[in-house]
Amino acid sequence: MRNRYAIVGLGALLAVATALPAAAEPVDDELVIDGQAMTVRTAAPEGHPFDELLSGWLFREAETRELEADSFQNPGMLYVDRGADIWNAVDGTMGKSCASCHDDAADTMKGIAANYPKWDADAKRPINIELQIDKCRVENMGAEAYKFDTPDQKALTTYIKHQSLGTPVAVDLSQGDLQSWWDRGKDIYYTRTGQLNFACASCHEANSGQYIRADHLSQGQANGFPTYRLKQADMVSLHNRFRGCIRDTRAEFPKAFSDELMALEVYVTWRGTGLSVETPAVRQ
Ligand code: HEC
Ligand code: HEC
Repeated sequence: MRNRYAIVGLGALLAVATALPAAAEPVDDELVIDGQAMTVRTAAPEGHPFDELLSGWLFREAETRELEADSFQNPGMLYVDRGADIWNAVDGTMGKSCASCHDDAADTMKGIAANYPKWDADAKRPINIELQIDKCRVENMGAEAYKFDTPDQKALTTYIKHQSLGTPVAVDLSQGDLQSWWDRGKDIYYTRTGQLNFACASCHEANSGQYIRADHLSQGQANGFPTYRLKQADMVSLHNRFRGCIRDTRAEFPKAFSDELMALEVYVTWRGTGLSVETPAVRQ
C-alpha cells in the first residue's frame, strides 16, 4: 500500500511537467570560473551507485550556468565579499578576529573546506564549516555561536568554502567514527518518509535526469554550497536545502546540525567525491 502510494505520488508530480520532455541528458558543457576549469563530471568512487558523478550545474538552464561562470555577475560573490569583511572584523571578549590567528584566508584556508565534514575529536561527532566557525568564535574569540542561517553565518561559510574553489571534494572517512555516520547517512538517504513516501534516492538517484514540475532533477550534490538560489534571491545553506527537500515530501524535517542532518551531510558530500567545490554555485 505504502509503496503503491509512493509510485502514484511521484508519477503525479512528474506528470505536472508533461509539457516538458520526461527526461533529458545533462548538458555537455565545461565550467571555467576566473580561468580555472572546474571538474563537473568525474568517475564515481568504489561502492557508489552511479558510474559518473555530475555537478548540479550541468542540469541548469544556460542563463543560470552563465551566471555561475562569471564571477562579476554571480550574485553569490557579494556574500564572499561580506565574508571577507567578517573575517577581518574583531568580535567577542578576547579582542580577536579570525585573521588574528589565521592571517590571510587565501593562504590558510585554501583547499581546507573540500575535506569537510571532518571528525571533531572533542565533540565526538562530525563537524562542518558552520560548526567549526562557531567553535572558533566561542573558544578562541569569546563570541557567541551564530544562529542558524543568519546572513553572517552564510557569508563566512561561503567565504571559507570559496577558498577551495576548484578543489576536488574528498572526505576522509577513516577519521574517528566518521564511517558510522556515513552508514547512518546512507540509511536516511534511502529511507522513504512523509506523506509522499519519498526517499532522497527516489528523486536524486532513481529519477535523476527527469523533470519534476519545471525542475530538472540532478544528483543532489553538495559541492556548490552555500549556493545562490535565483528563486529565493538569496544564499541557501546545505542544511536549509536538505530541510527544503524533506519538507517537499511532506515529512517533518530535522533541525539544522542535528545528528540526522550531519549524517546526511557526511554521506551526501561523499557522493560528490572528486567534483570541484563550486561555492558559491548558482542554481534556480
Ligand atoms: C585565537 C586564535 C583563533 C581565532 C581568533 C580563530 N581561530 Fe580558527 N582555529 C584556531 C585553532 C587553534 C584551530 C585548530 C588548529 C588548526 O586547525 O589550525 C582553528 C581551526 C580553524 C578551522 C579548521 C581548519 C582546518 O584545517 O580544518 C577553521 C575553518 C577556522 N579555524 C576558522 C576560523 C574562523 C572563521 C574564525 C573567526 C570567526 C576563527 N577561526 C578564529 C584558532 C583560532
Ligand atoms: C520530490 C523530489 C525530491 C526529494 C525526495 C529530494 N529532493 Fe533534493 N532536490 C529536488 C529538486 C527538484 C532539487 C532542485 C533541482 C536539482 O538540483 O535536482 C533538489 C536539489 C537538491 C540539492 C541541491 C543540488 C545542487 O546542485 O544545488 C541537494 C543537495 C539535495 N536536493 C539533497 C537532497 C537530499 C539529501 C534529500 C533527502 C533528504 C533530497 N534532496 C530529497 C527534489 C527532491
